Amino acid sequence: MSVGAPKLAQAPLLEVRDLRKTFSSKRMFAQARAVTAARDVCFRIDRGEAVALVGESGSGKSTIARILLRLETADRGEILLSGEGVLAREPRHASLGYRRRVQMVFQDPFGSLNSIHSVAHHLMRPLLRHHRVAPAGARARAIELLRTVGLEPAEEFIDRHPYELSGGQRQRVAVARALAVEPEVLVADEPTSMLDVSIRAGILGLLAQLKRERGLAILLITHDLASARFLCDRILVLFRGRVVEDGPSAALVEAPAHPYTRALLASIASGTQKQAAASRDRETAGGEAAQGCPFAARCPDVMDVCRASDPAPRAVAGRQVRCHLYAEDAQAPRS
Ligand SMILES: Nc1ncnc2c1ncn2[C@@H]1O[C@H](COP(=O)(O)OP(=O)(O)O)[C@@H](O)[C@H]1O
Ligand SMILES: [Mg+2]
Repeated sequence: MSVGAPKLAQAPLLEVRDLRKTFSSKRMFAQARAVTAARDVCFRIDRGEAVALVGESGSGKSTIARILLRLETADRGEILLSGEGVLAREPRHASLGYRRRVQMVFQDPFGSLNSIHSVAHHLMRPLLRHHRVAPAGARARAIELLRTVGLEPAEEFIDRHPYELSGGQRQRVAVARALAVEPEVLVADEPTSMLDVSIRAGILGLLAQLKRERGLAILLITHDLASARFLCDRILVLFRGRVVEDGPSAALVEAPAHPYTRALLASIASGTQKQAAASRDRETAGGEAAQGCPFAARCPDVMDVCRASDPAPRAVAGRQVRCHLYAEDAQAPRS
């Protein structure tokens, strides 16, 4: 027993290995078309660390989140929590223990809370279901949770209903509900994208505080590199289900290595994200390229090799980049 202990102590809190998920969408009178929403996805998150999954809409971010939350099964790959494997293709009924340790905040604060139930109900339910408190203490603990997420006076908020709250307040309740079971990992799927710009910073600030003060590990899913940089230690850039660049946030944003990361940053700077999405839709209408780099059709630096083979990840300037511009495991661009 003692032989295995040091190994477990060093294991990352959450590790994802070689995750893959393919959807086949069957349409009437048309050939079924397979979409690989996640492919060879690997990452790890330590206690107190925040990692961002960044990419345009349709790149596979929510699919990865749903697999982590056991709402979706993967075709292959592994999820390890504190070094203990949870097979990604295991049936959906993950253990209550796993579900407690990995919690989620969804994008839509209006859809994720049930309007007929009070804030108290939303917070007390997980507390009781996961036996975090005795029934008599549930209300007091729920009030404490509201304070934690900055909803004060908490005694007033506790008996309100979701329709009496603003979007930002609802999202804080959603965070409080996730925290009720004292999770170690919080997966937040675009938690601010449906909120007014003016209150987004408050929610991100709350997540930063939970990370700092409680050692909460966070997977932030966003299409916004600025939010990712603000909250996260590392950023993974996703394109068509593949992690094309993975590195420390500041370095990645200041000196993006993958042409797609550069395009993503440029589109934010010039406000052309919508145009990029439109061109992507035209391009994906024809289905996935059978071989080569999936970004080749849009890449300003495309070379012949890009159309012939899908690049493996290589180490470039302290990060992993999946691009033929860089020689395999070299530090500098070719040419
Ligand atoms: N249940 C599903 N059935 C079929 N295709 C799906 C399903 N869920 C997601 N997809 C497809 O998988 C790809 C990735 O989707 P998603 O993970 O939602 O991306 P993102 O969250 O980055 O916008 C998209 O092409 C999407 O259409
Ligand atoms: Mg999504």
